[in-house]
Amino acid sequence: MCSSFLLCPKASTSLILLLLLFFFIIPHHHLHVMSAPAILPAKHNNVTDRSSLLVFKSKISLDPHGVFATWNDTLPFCRWQGVVCGRRHPDRVVSLDLTSLDLFGTVPPHLANLTFLRRIDFSSNHFHGRIPQELSRLSRLQYLDLNTNSFSGMIPSELSHCLGLQFINMSFNKIEGNIPSVFGSLPSLYELDLKNNSISGQILTSLANASSLVVLGLSFNLLSGGIPPSLGKLFVLKALYLEDNNLEGSIPPSLWNISSLEYLYLGNNQLKGSIPQDLGQTLPRLNHLAINFNKMHGSIPMSLSNASLLSLIQLNYNNFSGRIPPNLGSLRHLRFLLLYGNRLEAREPLIGASLLL
Ligand SMILES: *[C@@H]1O[C@H](CO)[C@@H](O)[C@H](O)[C@H]1NC(C)=O
Ligand SMILES: *[C@@H]1O[C@H](CO)[C@@H](O)[C@H](O)[C@H]1NC(C)=O
Ligand SMILES: *[C@@H]1O[C@H](CO)[C@@H](O)[C@H](O)[C@H]1NC(C)=O
Ligand SMILES: *[C@@H]1O[C@H](CO)[C@@H](O)[C@H](O)[C@H]1NC(C)=O
Ligand SMILES: *[C@@H]1O[C@H](CO)[C@@H](O)[C@H](O)[C@H]1NC(C)=O
Ligand SMILES: *[C@@H]1O[C@H](CO)[C@@H](O)[C@H](O)[C@H]1NC(C)=O
Ligand SMILES: *[C@@H]1O[C@H](CO)[C@@H](O)[C@H](O)[C@H]1NC(C)=O
Ligand SMILES: *[C@@H]1O[C@H](CO)[C@@H](O)[C@H](O)[C@H]1NC(C)=O
Repeated sequence: MCSSFLLCPKASTSLILLLLLFFFIIPHHHLHVMSAPAILPAKHNNVTDRSSLLVFKSKISLDPHGVFATWNDTLPFCRWQGVVCGRRHPDRVVSLDLTSLDLFGTVPPHLANLTFLRRIDFSSNHFHGRIPQELSRLSRLQYLDLNTNSFSGMIPSELSHCLGLQFINMSFNKIEGNIPSVFGSLPSLYELDLKNNSISGQILTSLANASSLVVLGLSFNLLSGGIPPSLGKLFVLKALYLEDNNLEGSIPPSLWNISSLEYLYLGNNQLKGSIPQDLGQTLPRLNHLAINFNKMHGSIPMSLSNASLLSLIQLNYNNFSGRIPPNLGSLRHLRFLLLYGNRLEAREPLIGASLLL
């Protein structure tokens, strides 16, 4: 007989069996009840979100409307002004909406600890300093609106890790450096607006890999080089804003093939070449066509009148020649027709538009 199970091989085997039974064979819901107090992931994350928000608050140097007065101990952080928590994850921050509040401050890397964030809107404030590269850890981020602030430094290329990004607006800041080539690898990006910054370098071919792009705004920057023909691959693009840069070369033929285009702004560059004669057929949805202040030549295509939604045609200050197509008068929505500073002739009167020849 065995006196103690420790010394008895048979007994210890049955103990192991018993332990196995306890851990693996007992139904799962029993185990849950027993282990719940020890795990508590939600509570832990709660603490992280809260402390990250408090670090963010500590970097706000001026809050004239007293937004952050509500960010206090009396209220749970999900009820602080501008903080939105999830429906499925009621203790996690999913959105920070702090637009137009005259806030001064910087954005600390700690913001990236709010790992459930889907939406950041800091637009129309006075945030300065860099856009932290740590934001790349926000794998759920879809919407990033930083427009109209004083952010400086470069666009962190790490943002391309946020594969769910759909909307980026960084217009009206002081951002420098290049457009990260990896932005092309964001499959869901439909609006990218970097207008009015100091972004330099070339528009990279790879940007055209962002095939969901509907709005691409790069106007009022220091971009140079040519317009990459690959942009013609953006089959759902509606608005292309490239005016006020130092772009040169000719407008790639593929660009005239994006039949979804409604707004095309290429003014104030050094672009050469001519407008294809079938433009009105290949871009039937065009509303605004602005190629003013460039070095374009050739005639104004008769087919323009086929783009029946055109309301603005700005071709002033180029070297266009030949006759102004008299059928432009049939464009019922046309409100602005700017043709001065060219070598054009007109023989018949144009009707129905406010003309500046
Ligand atoms: C916290 O904010 C709420 C909402 O603005 C306010 O009613 C409350 O008095 C504040 N509590 C403290 C301690 O400041
Ligand atoms: C939050 O992020 C910062 C900087 O990215 C890091 O130093 C810190 O350890 C994080 N804090 C928590 C509580 O996770
Ligand atoms: C980005 O913000 C600017 C300034 O508010 C606005 O004019 C522009 O329409 C926005 N861009 C997009 C794509 O929404
Ligand atoms: C760009 O934005 C600044 C303010 O951020 C403004 O002063 C300037 O006029 C803008 N430039 C253009 C060309 O819109
Ligand atoms: C863009 O797509 C092409 C193939 O279409 C691929 O060779 C290239 O590596 C891609 N570039 C980026 C930056 O994703
Ligand atoms: C434009 O589209 C037409 C018809 O889809 C095609 O045959 C032509 O090759 C395209 N041109 C360019 C430059 O992409
Ligand atoms: C273009 O417009 C002219 C009249 O200006 C018309 O005769 C022609 O059929 C139109 N072409 C297309 C493709 O709509
Ligand atoms: C405009 O075109 C004419 C004839 O094609 C050419 O002689 C002239 O140099 C051009 N002017 C400019 C400023 O490019």
